[in-house]
Amino acid sequence: MTADTIIAMEHVSTRFGDQIVHDDITLRVPRGQILGLVGGSGSGKTTLVREMIGLDAPTAGTVHLFGERLDLLREDALAALRGRCGVLFQGGALFSAFTVYENIAFPLQEYRAVEPDLIRDLVYMKLAQVGLEPDVASRRPAELSGGMVKRVALARALALEPELLFLDEPTSGLDPVTAQGFVHHLQGLHRELGFTAVVITHDLDLMHDLCTSLAILADHTIVAHGSPDVVAKNQHPFIEAMFSGERGRRVFGALSA
Ligand SMILES: Nc1ncnc2c1ncn2[C@@H]1O[C@H](COP(=O)(O)OP(=O)(O)O)[C@@H](O)[C@H]1O
Ligand SMILES: [Mg+2]
Repeated sequence: MTADTIIAMEHVSTRFGDQIVHDDITLRVPRGQILGLVGGSGSGKTTLVREMIGLDAPTAGTVHLFGERLDLLREDALAALRGRCGVLFQGGALFSAFTVYENIAFPLQEYRAVEPDLIRDLVYMKLAQVGLEPDVASRRPAELSGGMVKRVALARALALEPELLFLDEPTSGLDPVTAQGFVHHLQGLHRELGFTAVVITHDLDLMHDLCTSLAILADHTIVAHGSPDVVAKNQHPFIEAMFSGERGRRVFGALSA
């Protein structure tokens, strides 16, 4: 494994009781890549991501994150690795009792000893990075639109300037125009900041416009992995069903050509 491999999963299997979720998955994510993790509901996408950051351990196999084998690390070393990751949970998951300012400041106060003045500067810098006006800082999540909640959640995920970003369905629940704006914004941030990302998504536009590769989770394993255009032509029934509809044809072009 080279230093440019950010995540390496080798022969990972996951079972919950009698239920087999993952069966012998091997997957590597190189530095700078935006990997789209795609699969049906309940196929094990969130569990796989939790294993990548050591929140869950697989039943068998090994996971390396930033070159460190996770099952050999103590909790404090694991926490230090997680401090290099930003996570945008499904649904945004902001603290509803906190203002936008407090939500973005939270990881800075939690993981880094940062001077209050510097926290202030960083919070306003992150707001600007995700395209929000400074006056949004004093609002609470209930006073924001769905698109703004996602942007604030992204600002919080970016607060620690992560090398690795996990996004769990970042555009779900957004209208198509807002979703497209969010994806273009992420593209710009990726060019500017150069992070590596793993994005769980069902959004074909996001897969096409943002992801540098796709990994398709079906039949308990990764059935296809590669560039979006190549994966979209794969004949696996789940992949065909996903990409051969009208929307898939429009986004990825005529696949049978
Ligand atoms: N902690 C757990 N205990 C038992 N079953 C779980 C647990 N976490 C996930 N599962 C099961 O594993 C399967 C995959 O879940 P998940 O990773 O959340 O799927 P996805 O994110 O692809 O929808 C589901 O059937 C789910 O019920
Ligand atoms: Mg999930």
